[in-house]
Amino acid sequence: MSDWQLFDTHCHLDVPAFDDDRDAVLARARAAGVVRLLNPAYDLASSRRAIALAEAHADLVAAVGIHPNDAAGFGESHLAELRALASAPSVVAIGEIGLDYHWQIVPREEQARAFVAQLGLARELDLPVIVHCREAYDDALELLRDHGRGLPGLVMHAFSGRMEHLRAALALGFYIGIGGPVTYPNAHALRAVVEAAPLDRIVIETDSPYLAPQPHRGRRNEPAYVATVAQKIAELRGRSASDIARITTDNGRRLFRLN
Ligand code: NI
Repeated sequence: MSDWQLFDTHCHLDVPAFDDDRDAVLARARAAGVVRLLNPAYDLASSRRAIALAEAHADLVAAVGIHPNDAAGFGESHLAELRALASAPSVVAIGEIGLDYHWQIVPREEQARAFVAQLGLARELDLPVIVHCREAYDDALELLRDHGRGLPGLVMHAFSGRMEHLRAALALGFYIGIGGPVTYPNAHALRAVVEAAPLDRIVIETDSPYLAPQPHRGRRNEPAYVATVAQKIAELRGRSASDIARITTDNGRRLFRLN
């Protein structure tokens, strides 16, 4: 397993769930073959924490952005702060940003406003985008058709859309992020998506501390478990897990322009 080259493209290592043992979690990830990690943000404070963590660890990079569930009152001051934070050398993307109609903590129009404004910031700064989309694929893809052009790259993280959404995302040149849910017994639709998607458009992720794969489901997730995601995709695609690790890591490096 140690010859694997895994890239966990979405892990929230900055959150308090890792305060007691963050270094041990990182050590387990490296032992499992994780060579790269990307810590996205959900608000301004987590953007700052993500940057601080990335500055402390050479294999970690950061994204800055405001999540739809945290987008209440989003305005010019947030945009200015994000612009300043994004100038840190460890910041490789804007995210996670998007639409969340599952929790719908913030009114839809307000979510859309924050999403579109941050897409504009990404275009202005020439940074790829990490999209969070939950039960909002039709609206998110419509916004992205209008406002997602001219970006250097985009990933629909924790992809949970239907086959038609996959086709639309691929047509726009986007990547899809696949994580723990692909291992869940009832995830038939997601596994069909993984079987249909071109291998050069899939990146893998854990979304730690959330969405732990089987058999850890329901407990804290951690980046080492991204190996389980690679294994599951390998099984679905009839490839070796080390192949899937290498391919998805190359994809992530291309998407986020890392070497
Ligand atoms: Ni996330």
